[in-house]
Amino acid sequence: MTKESLQHGLPRASVSETLAVMNDVMLPSVAKGVIIRRPRIVGLAERMKLDQRAILRVQRLEAKYGPGPLMLRSPDSKPMALVLDPGHANRILEQTPEPFATAEWAKRSVLAHFEPHMSLISHGVERAERRRFNDDVLQSHCAVHHLGDRFATVVQEEAGELLQDIRQAGGHLDWDAFVDAWNRVVRRVVLGDTARDDRALTETLSKLRAVANWGFLHPGREHLRKDLHERLLRYLERAEKGSLAAEVARTSCNEVTQPVHQVPQWLTAFNPAGMATFRALALLAAHPGESERAQAEIAHDIPHASPRFGFLRASILESLRLWPTVPLVLRESTVATQWENGWMPANTSMLLHAPFFHRDDRYLDDAHRFNPDLWLQPEQMEQRVLMPFSEGTGICPGRHLVLLVGSHMLARLLEGREYRLKPPTRLLSSKPMPPLLNNYDLTFESRLH
Ligand code: HEM
Repeated sequence: MTKESLQHGLPRASVSETLAVMNDVMLPSVAKGVIIRRPRIVGLAERMKLDQRAILRVQRLEAKYGPGPLMLRSPDSKPMALVLDPGHANRILEQTPEPFATAEWAKRSVLAHFEPHMSLISHGVERAERRRFNDDVLQSHCAVHHLGDRFATVVQEEAGELLQDIRQAGGHLDWDAFVDAWNRVVRRVVLGDTARDDRALTETLSKLRAVANWGFLHPGREHLRKDLHERLLRYLERAEKGSLAAEVARTSCNEVTQPVHQVPQWLTAFNPAGMATFRALALLAAHPGESERAQAEIAHDIPHASPRFGFLRASILESLRLWPTVPLVLRESTVATQWENGWMPANTSMLLHAPFFHRDDRYLDDAHRFNPDLWLQPEQMEQRVLMPFSEGTGICPGRHLVLLVGSHMLARLLEGREYRLKPPTRLLSSKPMPPLLNNYDLTFESRLH
């Protein structure tokens, strides 16, 4: 069958509409940095409201073409489709990895720079084994990892040091101070206490992530990747008690598992988790009613063993709904697939634009409001497709860990303290939440409660 006959019935965007999708939806994500953010561009994107432009662009196409999926005018060798319908989004996420593979070509070109055998860019039996390994080590199916208490202690210690810095700075907190403490937590949780001050490791990974931002446009830095993997192997061999490295040692592996290609993803993905946590702190600072609920929860939960912090978790999820750190979820069809109004060829890259689904103000009154109850009252979720951690069989296996570490960090920072954004007008509960919140220039003043 020819490409034309396969696409019969599916709507096709014009050339100018395709260019507009590239310009408004894809380019800003690429420019901000898909694997490591470029702070200056994030600031620019915030000022220029580029994220709002992207949502409006997709809304306009949906209003014109209906549910789609909308085929874009891409080269014959690389068909691309924009997913516009919540039902289609759910189908794609549920039918992963067959016929909708996670190993999409653009994603492969990016992640292969530092973790070419990672589960997300693997397929078939290799993906199955690597995904199984990630699920086992990260305990994807448990709300609280069995090392949860240990990780909570690590957060408490590092937050304690950060609080000392905050006091010395007269109550001032900014991103640089926060991320320094956050990275210490991440290295201890993933690799063990001896990695606490291994900033060189984080630096090496950051350099590779900066290369990865360029995808296939960069030839790669082989020696850096070798260096990173050797450093990681040393930590995995040490398998320090109370860390994910120890879990790796306990978890069965075979010749295709390639643990050292899975670990860089954990370290990398904890970085946006820090962004989401810091933005959640800003949301709470700007919403006095929700901040009081957070304080009440902290006072109630902290004295108990293994505090759950349900409200703080919901606040982080809201931060990720409003400002998803993975705005484009990508899949690639492995065979021709049938839709209500036509066929889509095999090897089509499918773009799911999370902000379009998360902030659909045409149907949802509270699309731009901070509403943690959304995550606490499941009936509120019914009309929505929320995919901050993706969904279905390809859902992020680290999601519970993110919420555990993030909620404990918030609890320790907020316990007995009050935070105000500088300037307070940066985020106002009386106004819609902005299309993007630049975490790099957020600053707080804090004082005892
Ligand atoms: C805010 C923080 C995070 C967000 C928003 C997030 C989101 C996501 C999303 C959307 C995916 C699916 C991507 C796709 O289908 O292309 C994913 C996959 C994945 N995430 Fe996360 N993630 C976060 C943090 C973490 C952490 C901390 C870990 C590990 C400790 C982790 C481990 C993974 C792994 C291993 C995969 C690949 C799963 C697979 O192969 O199916 N993530 N994440």
